[in-house]
Amino acid sequence: MTEQSRTLSNVLVTGGAGFIGSNFIRFLLSDEGFNGKVFNLDSLTYAGNLENLRDVHDEHGGTRYHFIEADIRDFERVDEIFAKYEIDTVVHFAAESHVDRSIVGPRAFIETNIIGTVNLLEAARARWAGRDDVLFHHVSTDEVFGSLGETGQFNESTPYDPKSPYSASKASSDHLVRAWGHTYGLPFTISNCSNNYGPYQFPEKMIPVMIMNMVDRKPLPVYGDGSNVRDWLYVDDHSSAILRIMRSGRSSETYVVGGENEWQNLKLVGSLCTIVAEETKGDADELLDLITFVTDRPGHDLRYAIDCTKTKSELGWTQRHTFAEGLRHTVRWYLDNPTWVNHIRSGEYRKWMERNYDRR
Ligand code: NAD
Ligand code: DAU
Repeated sequence: MTEQSRTLSNVLVTGGAGFIGSNFIRFLLSDEGFNGKVFNLDSLTYAGNLENLRDVHDEHGGTRYHFIEADIRDFERVDEIFAKYEIDTVVHFAAESHVDRSIVGPRAFIETNIIGTVNLLEAARARWAGRDDVLFHHVSTDEVFGSLGETGQFNESTPYDPKSPYSASKASSDHLVRAWGHTYGLPFTISNCSNNYGPYQFPEKMIPVMIMNMVDRKPLPVYGDGSNVRDWLYVDDHSSAILRIMRSGRSSETYVVGGENEWQNLKLVGSLCTIVAEETKGDADELLDLITFVTDRPGHDLRYAIDCTKTKSELGWTQRHTFAEGLRHTVRWYLDNPTWVNHIRSGEYRKWMERNYDRR
């Protein structure tokens, strides 16, 4: 196992108002070994929601936690933030993250995921010249590796083969981070993770869409025949992997992270029906009847699976949450937080959905 432990002082978290970023900030600030400050840079797109961090703001706002509304597409602003807050560590989550949206409108994905990443890299290069006590951690996805057939797993050596505008933009950003490391000596690490689930996930992604539609007794839109497979990881397990990589990961290295927890979509929706029925004292069969097969996502990747041997053996990381426990906790969270849910429902998300999606 790697012995090295970096000190993280002034940590810039990009996209910290989103799903994983907000969970990561909460996780980091509650870590006993972390004494630094967190600067949350987010432009608050439809997916950014400061309500995700209400508790963090109440406890640490103005002391160890600072929100900065800024857009990573704006280089001057990003550069100014690096200097002003003496940033020594970056955890880069900010991205357009939804595959379906990338199919409807790819341009925003190029601008934020590629140009935005270059702006951060350029600010880091300028402000960190010659330093080796700094780190740029880039949060990426397993989707850069493309789609698996019935067998096999992705690992750190899998060739890139992105298939959607989203995954192609994330693949580009990975290559750019490596290029800045190789050419300019920028200290970096990269993680490529599988599908996350948990509290605060925006209801455009499969699990919250299904939970919220079950509660509303609306159709449950399963793409194609529901045979696509995803490898699900509880969001705090992703956060713990990222923190380990930031502390002890070798510079210039990539670590893949996954749940070792493959599920066919249709089977997963069935399990969610059972859990929601149990938690609401409802009838699972009534929920199962809501399953509606809808037109498939164009170019829909069949299967993702991760072999995270390197991350486990080098960093001593492992998943802590079983799927049964994590899913039930997630269902309870959506049931117990109607204000959060209703706020999202009445916002831009709904208008955008009506314009762009056929949910039947
Ligand atoms: P999300 O869509 O919930 O959040 C993205 C955040 O980035 C939002 O707060 C948004 O306001 C912000 N943002 C978007 N464009 C911005 C810009 N131009 N400037 C500043 N902020 C901007 O996404 P998520 O699901 O939390 O994913 C976070 C990161 O993790 C992404 O880079 C994604 O590719 C990666 N990832 C996600 C998963 C997953 O299952 N969700 C898995 C692996 C990797
Ligand atoms: O693998 C990591 C990736 O996981 C991340 O990089 C992405 O940011 C994240 O969005 C996620 O991508 P997916 O496309 O796998 O997630 P999504 O929740 O959109 O879809 C999961 C599966 O469920 C996929 O096979 C499509 C299907 N699906 C999705 C939705 C929203 C449905 O059948 N019905 C739906 O309504």
